[in-house]
Amino acid sequence: MKILNARLSNFRNHAETEFNFGSHMNVLLGENGMGKTNTLEALSFLCLTKSFYASTDGTVLQRGKTFFEIESTIQSDTGKELRVRVAYDDQQKKKKFTINSADTEKFSSVIGMFPVVILSPENNSITFGSPADRRKFIDLVISQSSTAYVEDMVEYRRILRQRNKILTEARGKDCAADLLPWNEMLVKYGARIIHKRNMFLQEFAPYIAQTYSHIVDERETPKIEYAPTVKVSGDLSLENIIAALETKLQKKKNDELRFQTTLVGPHRDEIIFSLNGMLLKHYASQGQHKTFLVALKAAEFFYLKERCSDTPVFLLDDVFSELDEQRSGKLFSIVESLGQTFITTTSDKMFGGAEWNSHRRKFIIRNGTVAQEATA
Ligand SMILES: Nc1ncnc2c1ncn2[C@@H]1O[C@H](COP(=O)(O)OP(=O)(O)OP(=O)(O)O)[C@@H](O)[C@H]1O
Ligand SMILES: [Mg+2]
Repeated sequence: MKILNARLSNFRNHAETEFNFGSHMNVLLGENGMGKTNTLEALSFLCLTKSFYASTDGTVLQRGKTFFEIESTIQSDTGKELRVRVAYDDQQKKKKFTINSADTEKFSSVIGMFPVVILSPENNSITFGSPADRRKFIDLVISQSSTAYVEDMVEYRRILRQRNKILTEARGKDCAADLLPWNEMLVKYGARIIHKRNMFLQEFAPYIAQTYSHIVDERETPKIEYAPTVKVSGDLSLENIIAALETKLQKKKNDELRFQTTLVGPHRDEIIFSLNGMLLKHYASQGQHKTFLVALKAAEFFYLKERCSDTPVFLLDDVFSELDEQRSGKLFSIVESLGQTFITTTSDKMFGGAEWNSHRRKFIIRNGTVAQEATA
């Protein structure tokens, strides 16, 4: 897919900004605090119905304004053009997502329609942070390639909320009867999620191996291992996972009452990254972390490209400045081979030799406006 244009109204520091994007590479150049990341964030609203990092819609609303709007024409790989619009009204606290003027009932149905891969400083937590950060990463990749997974996740979160509510309200007293129906649901949906995550990680392994070796010359072998919340005997078939979840729920019954929260299920899975058998989290250098992350994201791109009906767009927020010259050169050559990309940067040194035309455009961003556009 390609984002042909976008109009941002009252979105963070963009009062009214219009872009006509290049079909291949788009460089957003500007000094700190000018509105480059904000532009990428607006694009993430178009693709995912929400920001890739702000937690609420109100945060991105321009201070003092009552609504924001992002409007765009998105072209699919087949050449079909869709008019996509996201609008948020702060007075009603309501967000609308429309495709060709038709309101989208369920935002979750949009996930995967406009596939996007985002590489931003926020993503550092994928390799440095907690298991929750890694789960979030794989969940978004799987979600963009499987509508069933999005629905299972939505349902699982609802089950978890209900179950936790019962446990909290019981204040340590026995609530087995109330939990019973929710246990069954937790096992059913939890098993589906674990099963899917395991399949995904197996499918994903060759992608990461390939993108990593593309960036790094030395023999460093990346590995991603799945450590689900339950020990499953035998292979990770749905039946075996269900049995393991049931057993562990029974075993943790008293602990759950004591801690007043659900202790068993895929919300407690861990995903372990390692390099040459050494845990990334404990042993890797800053550069190795960064390289691993870049390789993960490039792998995400190729994985989604093969599974979604459209080629993902790639948003790179301030990525090149953190890599050494050799690795950023390698990343640049990967980026060149992808589809449509959006790159924010404070220096265009590395794009010095580029020719600007309808495929490659450079936008100079100043105080929430496009101060200058280089297209020819
Ligand atoms: N809700 C909001 N309303 C108005 N302005 C906002 C809002 N949220 C953020 N801003 C402004 O947006 C600017 C930051 O924009 P952005 O994060 O896109 O900068 P940037 O160009 O990516 O800079 P850097 O190179 O430092 O990453 C800041 O000046 C900030 O005050
Ligand atoms: Mg920024």
